[in-house]
Amino acid sequence: MRTQVAIVGGGPAGLLLSQLLHRRGIASVVLESRDRRYVEQRQRAGMLEQGTTDVLRESGAGERLDREGLVHHGLELRFGGAGHRIPLTEMTGRTVTVYAQTEIVKDLVALRLADGGDVRFEAEVLEIDASAPSVTFRHEGRVETLDCDYVAGCDGFHGVSRPAVPGIRTFARDYPFAWLGILADVPPSTDELIYAHSDRGFALHSLRSPKVSRLYLQVAPDEDLGAWSDARIWDELAARFATGDGWRLREGPITDRAVTPMRSFVAEPMRHDRLFLAGDAAHIVPPTGAKGLNLAVSDVTVLARALAERYETGSERLLDDYSATCLRRVWRAEHFSYWMTTLLHADPEADEFARRLQRSHLEYVTSSEAAATTLAENYVGLPLA
Ligand code: FAD
Ligand code: DHB
Repeated sequence: MRTQVAIVGGGPAGLLLSQLLHRRGIASVVLESRDRRYVEQRQRAGMLEQGTTDVLRESGAGERLDREGLVHHGLELRFGGAGHRIPLTEMTGRTVTVYAQTEIVKDLVALRLADGGDVRFEAEVLEIDASAPSVTFRHEGRVETLDCDYVAGCDGFHGVSRPAVPGIRTFARDYPFAWLGILADVPPSTDELIYAHSDRGFALHSLRSPKVSRLYLQVAPDEDLGAWSDARIWDELAARFATGDGWRLREGPITDRAVTPMRSFVAEPMRHDRLFLAGDAAHIVPPTGAKGLNLAVSDVTVLARALAERYETGSERLLDDYSATCLRRVWRAEHFSYWMTTLLHADPEADEFARRLQRSHLEYVTSSEAAATTLAENYVGLPLA
């Protein structure tokens, strides 16, 4: 079996890459270890930069996004019992859109299959040869080999691609907290996202639709989900979002819940020979600031462009620049995510001095136009490359 680009992993990075390549007449096969239902139901990110929605539209996956995506022009930072709006669009001229990762994955799978694309579920890649190049995978009980010109490693943090890069360097930071995320059948209590800091910990109010809310709570890294009854979750959220002006958090049935660990991680370089890493396979950010999915999209946008130039002109210039081009944007997002995380969470190891500094920082970001603009331009996303 042979194709031009073998894509390991059918998450947002792998599926979008396959679609972008298809639009440029480049053939690919996507190999995904899990089943279709699993990848379409996995609850994860939801906030898209304008650059991400532009690329999705350009790829042909913009129809439902334009119909159902919720365009936002600002966000709220809440602390000390009061809210402070950051007017994102006024400050940057750009918008962000709430549209769940589950929906992006559904749209891309449907689009690839409708176009006759080769997306194989329950196909687990076992080994990658970055030089020959080829991938070996298990599908329906048989071990098969897919020969190709290039391999795209889009298999997430726990995949097999990153270990296939010899001598790769990694940089990491763990945090003394995690997020408990819920999905609830209740109209959002806010029109814009609320990032709340309190002594009890961080909380985030996001949304999925006019009828569905998405909320997150800072918890301990080893938190036992079983210790959180619905009532305890709602009480803790209400306490962290409490204001002095009578604002109320609406409650409703919780339909999904999970604890997500928080980590910063970067692997360099993002390329070895004919193997290119993209998305979570190469880097992880803590979710504060919503950069994970957006970075996966920018990586594959850069990769699709580079592969198109290679097939159209024979030039490997953009492929040679791939790792450095992506890493510049990756490190900016790493810094922003780390900065938002430390700005907003209650660090159990912080002393009183650190707490006073954090409060001063929050007051600065919400009172200085220069500081607020720094947050805004990173949040809406910096230019691609
Ligand atoms: P993934 O989505 O991880 O996709 C990789 C795919 O590769 C998976 O489908 C996997 O099954 C497959 N795979 C793995 N190994 C193999 C193999 N050997 N063979 C074949 N296939 C393989 N980001 C935010 O911005 N906001 C959030 O709230 C947020 N919440 C998150 C919650 C969780 C629990 C996690 C894990 C991540 C979260 N993220 C969030 C990050 C965001 O979801 C990721 O950045 C995004 O999914 C990256 O996409 P990806 O395609 O690179 O990787
Ligand atoms: C969402 C997740 C984030 O990490 C974030 O910063 C904003 C929104 C979300 O899932 O909606």
